[in-house]
Amino acid sequence: MKSYRKTIQKGQETITMNEAKGTRARKTGRAKKVTRRILLGLLCVLVAAGTLVGLGMWTSRYPDRINMGTACNMGNMPNMDMSSMCQTGNTSASTGNGTPIASLQAPETAAHIDTFVLTAQPAHLSFGTNPGVDAWTFNGTAPGPTLRVRQGDLVVVHLINHLSAGVTIHWHGVDVPNSADGVAGVTQDAVKPGQSYTYRFLAKEAGTYWYHSHQESFEETGHGLYGMLIVEPNAPVVHDDVDMALALHSWNSVPTMNGVAGTLHIPAQPGQWVRLRLVNTDNTPYQLTLAGAPFLVAALDGHDLNGPTPLTEVPFSIDGGQRYDLRFRMPESGPVAMLIANDGEQQYHQMPVVLVGKGSLASNALPAIGHNEFDFATYGQPRIDTITAQSHFDATYTISLGFTFGFSNSRPGPVFTLNSQSFPNTPTIVVKPGQLVLLRFVNDANNGTHPMHLHGHTFTVLTKNGRALTGSPVHLDTIAVRPHETYDVAFYANNPGLWMLHCHNLYHANHGMDMMVVYPNISTPYTIGNASGNFPD
Ligand code: C2O
Ligand code: CU
Repeated sequence: MKSYRKTIQKGQETITMNEAKGTRARKTGRAKKVTRRILLGLLCVLVAAGTLVGLGMWTSRYPDRINMGTACNMGNMPNMDMSSMCQTGNTSASTGNGTPIASLQAPETAAHIDTFVLTAQPAHLSFGTNPGVDAWTFNGTAPGPTLRVRQGDLVVVHLINHLSAGVTIHWHGVDVPNSADGVAGVTQDAVKPGQSYTYRFLAKEAGTYWYHSHQESFEETGHGLYGMLIVEPNAPVVHDDVDMALALHSWNSVPTMNGVAGTLHIPAQPGQWVRLRLVNTDNTPYQLTLAGAPFLVAALDGHDLNGPTPLTEVPFSIDGGQRYDLRFRMPESGPVAMLIANDGEQQYHQMPVVLVGKGSLASNALPAIGHNEFDFATYGQPRIDTITAQSHFDATYTISLGFTFGFSNSRPGPVFTLNSQSFPNTPTIVVKPGQLVLLRFVNDANNGTHPMHLHGHTFTVLTKNGRALTGSPVHLDTIAVRPHETYDVAFYANNPGLWMLHCHNLYHANHGMDMMVVYPNISTPYTIGNASGNFPD
């Protein structure tokens, strides 16, 4: 804002000075006129530009209060479908007459309860040669503690905030009751410094999940407020001797694995089965592979794939928010290395490297990045699945992922759009309980990959670029849509609430790429915007 005003003022000063100089030079009357006209023209252009900038900033700024509730406070109006009248984005806070969000809760108790305390606190982290960073952490480390629970358990997490800014915790990939979703301004207020909040949810599905702040998530996740959540299966179908959670996060553009910028050693014996659970907590995709043994992609976003087949040094791409479970058997000799490269790079980095087992990786042993990239659309074995491309869908929504330059929340620059609008002006999808909903993601922006993440639901991938998947069924919560790609995904509307659907390149989300998927007649007392200070992205 300031910089634009300055430019305009400077422009005016320049004009005044030039005019003065012109007079001193005793130019002819004609020359003076021409100069004046040019200057006047310039002034007009500057004023017009200034007006446009001002207008852009004004119209793109967040309202003070955005209430995402779908129950309006309009009294009882018989014979009216309130759900279609009272949609999201009300600028006045209204608690309405609907189902309060606070009632969308997990049971108070269960046979097994896992209780954790996560304290948001500052910490100085160092990475070997690096001078280190001042990070925001859960319990003093980034990643925060890996929470391991048993499938079916009730998970209770007490969040205590010792930071100077508000925080929340979102349980990424877990279909929690709405009030435990951790979205500032939608399901709760950001937890203020010195305050606390308790999350409670049933860990129904086994798998690899993660957690991160959903107040200013771009800033706060980037600064270290994230960790992993592992739900161990009640009845494991495979046995793993070693089970390791790995969070990929870059600090000052240097990628790290569990905060290690060099070599992360994981002990394992020859013949043992190893499971590596990887999450990309960053905003951009990486390419990885395993060298030293053939590996299986056992699960994506925590959901098992059917009949995974061995891959040898096949590169796979992981985008922001996504998870991979990789399994392999330790060879008789030598280590197994997880190698990493940025998206589009031709060579794996020397560091960071995850080294499983004894021995070291010869520096000349880095394989080339192959071209046969892993593709879930053709991987594993087909199996009967609840939702298929032949299912009957109650509703279909096309979401076009776009990009433009303009203003988002008063900031000039890139704007990422959903159906040509940026948050909070994006359209809202209203789903009714029991509906089978199809979402078609179309990336016509040609501006990077968009890992689209839906809260509160797991979706089935039906088609990629119009073609049905030929391998295992694939169930995800985050789907990476590359330029010129189209995916159809579908989910059952089985978790009432107010849910976000957004790009997990959190920079994109911070610049407009968010929308809401909501159920009718839900009320929330919370608001997004300047009045509350709640900014989910
Ligand atoms: Cu992992 Cu809405 O976020
Ligand atoms: Cu994006």
